[in-house]
Amino acid sequence: MFSFKRIVGLAGALMFAAAAMPASAQDYPNRPITIIVPFAAGGPTDVIARIAADNMGKTLGQTFVIENVVGAGGTTGSTRAMRASPDGYTIIMGHMGTHAASVALYPNLAYKPDVDFETIGLVAGTPILILAKKDFPPKDLKEFAAYVKANETKLNAAHAGVGSVSHVTGLLLNHVLGVKPTLIPFQGTGPAMNALVGGQVDYMTDQIVNAVPQVNGGTIKAYAIGTPERNPSLPNVPTSKEAGLPDFQASAWNALFAPKGTPKPILDKLSAALDKALSDETTRKRLLELGSDIPGPDRRGQAALATLVKSEIAKWTPIIKAAGPM
Ligand code: MLT
Repeated sequence: MFSFKRIVGLAGALMFAAAAMPASAQDYPNRPITIIVPFAAGGPTDVIARIAADNMGKTLGQTFVIENVVGAGGTTGSTRAMRASPDGYTIIMGHMGTHAASVALYPNLAYKPDVDFETIGLVAGTPILILAKKDFPPKDLKEFAAYVKANETKLNAAHAGVGSVSHVTGLLLNHVLGVKPTLIPFQGTGPAMNALVGGQVDYMTDQIVNAVPQVNGGTIKAYAIGTPERNPSLPNVPTSKEAGLPDFQASAWNALFAPKGTPKPILDKLSAALDKALSDETTRKRLLELGSDIPGPDRRGQAALATLVKSEIAKWTPIIKAAGPM
């Protein structure tokens, strides 16, 4: 049983904690929160942001507004987010490209991903698929490799801008195959996917989230997935190892960040809302149906994401430098 004295003491401690919180954090959020998506609508970053935002908005009692700020492989939107007021009302859905690979690809990048942002949390892991337009002649990945090698000068490969996931993983695929097709940049893999479905481009690598509905609908072909295991949302798509290209191993991630200096109590509210979203059955179902991997509780928090960003910068920088000018 709690004694009266203990209850008074506890209430005092809680009041002290509340008083120590800036007023802006205490009533946060009292207006809509903008999530900058640094790519076009309809792509994986956009889709994942909208799914997370739906549930986080319910938890925080406010609307999340998605703002697509496109350009330069996601670095335009990321720069905008870095310069936003650090008040919790503008945050960004970044990814492996904007917050890791971009460091090596843009010598004059306006931001340092591991210094100029506060971490909110990892949202989803996204395996990468090798995709082609539906009437691309090769039947399987071995034939794909031979066909692309024989026709490289005639082929167009799509991506979402220098530094994007589709660009970096596309470079990896082309490097493994030893080919240099014409690269066609889009403002996101939403529009790139439309071009693939329409047959205006021949192939691309993309995060699974963007591709599941199209592959299942037969509007594009999937040759392989760049993860050690097949994905339950596309059980008939072989792994790159099974299909004969074991050196193509690729997966990406999406995560929420806030501008540097956003107060910790606000970051904590956002992280808690994200954590709740990732435990919510409906949200999980939506993410899993699209093939994404939902991080477990130990990989979700602010500290785990900060560690991931540093390790991803360290991983991608030498790979990209070794690949030479792009
Ligand atoms: C990428 O390739 O970086 C993403 O697929 C871009 C996007 O989310 O549209």
